[in-house]
Amino acid sequence: MPALDFSDIKHANHVADEDFLRALPKAELHLHLEGSLEPELMFELAKRNNITLPFQTIEEVKAAYNFSNLQTFLDIYYQCADVLRTEQDFYDLTWAYLETSHEEGVIHVEPFFDPQTHTDRGIDIGVVFNGITRALKDGDEKLGISYGLILCFLRHLPEEAAFATLEQAKPYLDHIVGVGLDSSEVGHPPEKFKNVFKAALGLGLKTVAHAGEEGPAQYIIDAMDMLSVSRVDHGVRCTESEALIQRLANEDMPLTVCPQSNVRLKVYEHMSEHPILELLEKGVMVTVNADDPSFFGGYLLKNYTELSEHLGMTRSQAASLAANSLLASFISDETKQEYIEELEDMLAKW
Ligand code: HPA
Ligand code: ZN
Repeated sequence: MPALDFSDIKHANHVADEDFLRALPKAELHLHLEGSLEPELMFELAKRNNITLPFQTIEEVKAAYNFSNLQTFLDIYYQCADVLRTEQDFYDLTWAYLETSHEEGVIHVEPFFDPQTHTDRGIDIGVVFNGITRALKDGDEKLGISYGLILCFLRHLPEEAAFATLEQAKPYLDHIVGVGLDSSEVGHPPEKFKNVFKAALGLGLKTVAHAGEEGPAQYIIDAMDMLSVSRVDHGVRCTESEALIQRLANEDMPLTVCPQSNVRLKVYEHMSEHPILELLEKGVMVTVNADDPSFFGGYLLKNYTELSEHLGMTRSQAASLAANSLLASFISDETKQEYIEELEDMLAKW
């Protein structure tokens, strides 16, 4: 579906404020559930599971969340995930994310989880699946948030490990819509995972991959050509190739961009340098997402408000970004149409 034009809505050129952004019906397509573990819940789970954390207070945790690049973040992120042990832990983690999202006007989510982070610690993949999907189902029933879950392979591990994970996931395939690829990007190109992605596609799953966050623009091209992705996660380094920008626009290839993450991991020094709105204006199907909100200082709404504050995002641009998030999701065409109508009704009232 091509992007929608909202240049004729009321006050189209006004900078979008928080109330407007909250009211926009939105989808979130790039969110790592393990990255939504708030320090408060981490302490609670550590206590529940008799685990000693390297931090004593919430202030100490927040001070540790001062990253210089992707790897310095990942080192802490995997350490924090150690508190997740039981099905109830995974339920509580997912439920907390859904409650926050509901307050922010999110109507559909397609979160990621990293089973290898847990199975490598001896936790059964069923424990992880059951806790997460029970919360997602409750979110759908009680909060009206529809969902599709995405299983990510860790790219710093070998492709054989990803194959083993796909095998373990076989009894739970109806719990997921697709597979993704995350963790340390540089030195672990898409090509490394082309066989396991082919196997996933053969099982009827969609594919997405992190590419062009810290890695080069070529990884974005390879993710499309070798992994047949339906979306590129991050993808911001496409700005290094005008030809690639044109290709992304021509093919309506969605990018799940995470502005706060990019600033906190020093992809950009300051939000005012972020290219998301330039890409939007060039016709690329960009979307806004939080990535790892508890580590990067804000959930989805904060990612939108930062764009207003530092880039002067207008109401019309914000509406296009929200529409893109719905159009780029893996929901049925029928539900997409309903959600777009919901968005248009909201805009008519504002
Ligand atoms: N990039 C790669 N891997 C990740 C990220 C990210 O932003 N967040 C969690 N795992
Ligand atoms: Zn990510």
